[in-house]
Amino acid sequence: MKVLILGSGGREHALALTAARSPRVTEVVCAPGNGGIAERARCVPVNLKDLEAMVGLAEAEKPGLTIVGPELPLSLGIVDALQQRGFRVFGPTRGAALLETSKGFAKRFLQRHNIPTANYAVCASAAELEKAVDVFHPPIVVKADGLAAGKGVLICDSRATALEAAQGLFTGALLGEPERQVILEEFLTGEEISFLCLSDGKHIAPLLPAQDHKRIGEGDTGPNTGGMGVYTTDELLAPAMREWILHHIAEPTIRGMAEEDTPFTGVLYCGLMMTARGPQVLEFNARFGDPEAQAILVRLESDLVDALEACIDGKLCDTELRWSPGASACVVASSAGYPGAYKTGLPIGGLDAAAQVPGVEIFHAGTAQAGRQLVTAGGRVLGVTAAAPSLEEALARTYRALAGIQFEGIYFRRDIGRRALKHWQE
Ligand code: AMP
Ligand code: GLY
Repeated sequence: MKVLILGSGGREHALALTAARSPRVTEVVCAPGNGGIAERARCVPVNLKDLEAMVGLAEAEKPGLTIVGPELPLSLGIVDALQQRGFRVFGPTRGAALLETSKGFAKRFLQRHNIPTANYAVCASAAELEKAVDVFHPPIVVKADGLAAGKGVLICDSRATALEAAQGLFTGALLGEPERQVILEEFLTGEEISFLCLSDGKHIAPLLPAQDHKRIGEGDTGPNTGGMGVYTTDELLAPAMREWILHHIAEPTIRGMAEEDTPFTGVLYCGLMMTARGPQVLEFNARFGDPEAQAILVRLESDLVDALEACIDGKLCDTELRWSPGASACVVASSAGYPGAYKTGLPIGGLDAAAQVPGVEIFHAGTAQAGRQLVTAGGRVLGVTAAAPSLEEALARTYRALAGIQFEGIYFRRDIGRRALKHWQE
């Protein structure tokens, strides 16, 4: 079977390598892919903002399975368009992806189904927001309704700064495009957990829970990014807490979407805050996380393609996911300046030696081939990933590999997973 993967990041590199391990897969094609994926799979250019171009590509390639990586094609309705033409495609329809693509939809859905989340107000104008803000106590969380690539959440320490932030979102001054709705939210404190599940629209198969590190700076300081590093361990959630999240968050979400005639098939990513009054939903994503996918997939022992096909066929209840015991870590090496402006085209060295560290997989995110030289081509450049029997060992392997990698201005956080290690030692 030929598998087509849409996307170009570290997540898609991990999906491509994991799909290629399936004995039924004869070829993996990635569109548009990146410099690292091109070493192991055929990459073909495509514009992920262009629905017709993606459909045309599928018609030319005739894949047996298409896996959609990022949210943008989902928001355009790539799954609906491919399904209508008879293709088998893994991901939610445009209507189901609203859980990610409209935070206003997600908040109202959560409330309708009594799923725990922060108190909120969805506002359709600055005037409406000015009235609603008085029932929130600072810090006040101000969110854009639509997709914002990690830039749509502002934590404001006063009523005045919240109004200013909301104004910036409504006018388009902050994100480029004006927002139709802005969400005010109660500020929650606690540890964040990424809880991802596969779903066939009815049944759920949880993936390994993970913890991302969203801020650029060590000690969780500085601006938000797409994710600077992530780890998984068998101890991250107690079994009872995992069951609670399944029964009170993931299952009611899948049930609610089915009841509302927008069944959710694909990866449901629940971004949770573990607060004093229990886990609360911060956000949903309708896809694998990046870099969560890298750290999760290096521990998957069963067949990824079988599991994704079971989702398409509504047969997830017959599927058992098997994982290697222990832990994994993925540390992102980024370009100097990210998440702001950064240079590209800088030569990358040391990858061959780094890949020799036992248990290490180097997933490419923003890389390209310039002739025979691999160069930087994005903010997040590489996701150095390792699985191991313990988190200490997974991190040691990851950082040993990172020590040998060079490009001008390389930056990575040295504290990925450190809080978890300290916590368990106490
Ligand atoms: P989101 O895109 O909604 O996940 O928000 C991005 C990040 O903003 C989250 O990962 C949190 O770190 C933070 N955040 C979002 N909502 C809240 C909230 N209600 N309270 C505290 N932090 C939040
Ligand atoms: N790592 C966060 C995300 O994929 O949205």
